[in-house]
Amino acid sequence: MHDVRAVHWDDVRNVLVLLDQTQLPAREDYRACDDVDSVVDSVQRLVVRGAPALGAVGAYGVAVAMRQGQREGWSDDRLRTEIVRIRDARPTAVNLAWGVDRVTPLVPSGIDAVVAEAHVIVAEDQAANRELSRLGADWILNRVERRPVRVLTHCNTGDLATTGWGTALGIIRELHERGQVEMVYADETRPLLQGARLTAWECARQGIPCCVQADGAAASTILRGLVDVAIIGADRIARNGDTANKIGSVGVALACDAAGIPFVVAAPSSTVDMATPDGSHIEIELRNGDEVTTYAGSRVAPEGADGFNPAFDVTPARYVSAVVTERAVVEPDGVSPVSALVGE
Ligand code: MRU
Repeated sequence: MHDVRAVHWDDVRNVLVLLDQTQLPAREDYRACDDVDSVVDSVQRLVVRGAPALGAVGAYGVAVAMRQGQREGWSDDRLRTEIVRIRDARPTAVNLAWGVDRVTPLVPSGIDAVVAEAHVIVAEDQAANRELSRLGADWILNRVERRPVRVLTHCNTGDLATTGWGTALGIIRELHERGQVEMVYADETRPLLQGARLTAWECARQGIPCCVQADGAAASTILRGLVDVAIIGADRIARNGDTANKIGSVGVALACDAAGIPFVVAAPSSTVDMATPDGSHIEIELRNGDEVTTYAGSRVAPEGADGFNPAFDVTPARYVSAVVTERAVVEPDGVSPVSALVGE
């Protein structure tokens, strides 16, 4: 089984290469990005997606912009404008802006310096995912009595959503390696099916028992006692622990609260945004309504019915049993600062 790399830099061609996730699981196609338009388009069409993967794309994207600027003789102002275009390509996952901001001070030092820093971001993300997976698995095995554990997850948080290993799915992998996973219930994740297409694909590759359920089944599965813990990723975690993640996550949290089972959020510390006081300050991406009113390219809602398509929701901290980063596990109460998650 070859490694899956959602994002990498091709040192020979000096281009950003993305696994085209819109084509999975049918085809493993790769898209080479050598200009800002192709980076922005890939982010907006979800060729690449998932908060930590977007962090790496933000960083490498700056190098792509610099190379295009050299080819086309851009002014400094034009380069700045194009970098902001990458930074703003999607609003909710803080990692995209974080990745851009981390390498931007290195722009005067040249493309090699920016690419080198982007490589560091990738290495740090991979290490963070391994460590948070160990911490998260330990916390869950302390909290949940049943063995092996039955897990529910939402959206996709594995190799494909990160630079390697995964966050929520990383914890599931860790539990699986310890022989502690009975079943993963993967919510299909309407409308773009990250759960059905991507999480189920990753679980199958790794031999993790997994079934796909409609998003509407999640609350019932939890209340029927078929699940011991829900584990999700995050696009942005506010200072009070409020967590933005894929639309449908807050419903899972409410059902876990009603059933008295833990709802765990897993993310690298780069997803914790200490500048955002609480969830009301998180911008929720509103995507094209056509993604909801159509299915597999065909219209399913009647003409004249508009689609309402928020891509994310916010789970209030009081419904989050634990937030896990590579630095700490914090049980937020909505009041205490979650600064331990970023090592402060
Ligand atoms: O719209 P997407 O597919 O980018 O949404 C992704 C998610 O909501 C993930 O759960 C989140 O980014 C965490 S990925 C480790």
